[in-house]
Amino acid sequence: MAKLAQVLEEIKGEHPLLEVVEEKLREEVAGGHLAARLSRNLLDGGGKRLRPILTVLAASFYPLPEGVVVDAAVAAELIHLASLVHDDIIDNAHMRRGERTINDLWGNQIAVLTGDHLFASAFSLLAALPKPAVLRRMTEAIRLMCEGEIEEILRAYQPDQREANYFRCIENKTAQLLAACCQSGALLFDAPLDQLQALGNYGLRLGCAFQIIDDILDLTAQEDELGKPVRWDFMQGNFTLPVLYARRHSPYGDELTRLLLSGQERRAGQLLDRMLREEDAILYAWQQAARQVKIAEEALRALPPHPAREHLRSLAAGLLEQGPLEEQLLAFSHYP
Ligand code: FPP
Ligand code: MG
Repeated sequence: MAKLAQVLEEIKGEHPLLEVVEEKLREEVAGGHLAARLSRNLLDGGGKRLRPILTVLAASFYPLPEGVVVDAAVAAELIHLASLVHDDIIDNAHMRRGERTINDLWGNQIAVLTGDHLFASAFSLLAALPKPAVLRRMTEAIRLMCEGEIEEILRAYQPDQREANYFRCIENKTAQLLAACCQSGALLFDAPLDQLQALGNYGLRLGCAFQIIDDILDLTAQEDELGKPVRWDFMQGNFTLPVLYARRHSPYGDELTRLLLSGQERRAGQLLDRMLREEDAILYAWQQAARQVKIAEEALRALPPHPAREHLRSLAAGLLEQGPLEEQLLAFSHYP
């Protein structure tokens, strides 16, 4: 089993609260209405439950009532699911986790409203928490997620993007929600500011590493591993870190955009392969992910010694050891 999956299983084994989170998630999507049925399908489709895991782990530093931690964790997963439903509309995606997306099956109208439905369930839980600070942090994260998504749309096909823009985008669209999850327990407990910041920094760096690896896999993995067509993001003009790096160093950058914009997807894919290989762009992106993981691990030093701190550390390290990643690195490396 890949290291990350192993770490997640170990954490689940030691935190029975995550079972309660799973049961409560099912309750939240119960009911016969179409919105509930579609949300249930999405929940049944899998997912690592990374956000509830981070919420429960980070909250375990503090003596909090279990019920509030469960509600914060469930709300985080519901927000994540809502954002995926909306993201699939935005990306015009037909497949997710090996299943047809809601927008593909039912159209954008039903999909938007199903996302909103999930969203409303999350807010109902957050509004009932004893401290409004969690609701405020989550809504801040959502605002930033929207900003990240908008920026990504505006960046589409832009030839000369800076890596800094890419990093800002992924920090907003992905990492902020993970950071908010890591901070929920500390906010519920009124923890010292340095711990709140350390948990936030850990979540931000972990989230960036997570998204960089997701972006690498979009370029290198096989369709059955991804549960969706490979290179969908790239074909939509979403130039992620490996592509930006390859473009910056290769003489074929403009040709790549030209092929994409003129609909010559096969040739664009072939040229991209060549550029990624010649410029060692996958290796570069992987090194950037490793750098983010290192900073995430360093952030944990400000937290008291605790089994959860070790789990957070293993989780970050595990991101870099996901089964096929090393093989893909070799396959796309100039120096095998
Ligand atoms: C997946 O990215 C999408 C996100 C990480 C965030 C989506 C955020 C929004 C739609 C705005 C916020 C909306 C709500 C309802 C909270 P990706 O396209 O790189 O990954 P994928 O391969 O999983 O699609
Ligand atoms: Mg997407």
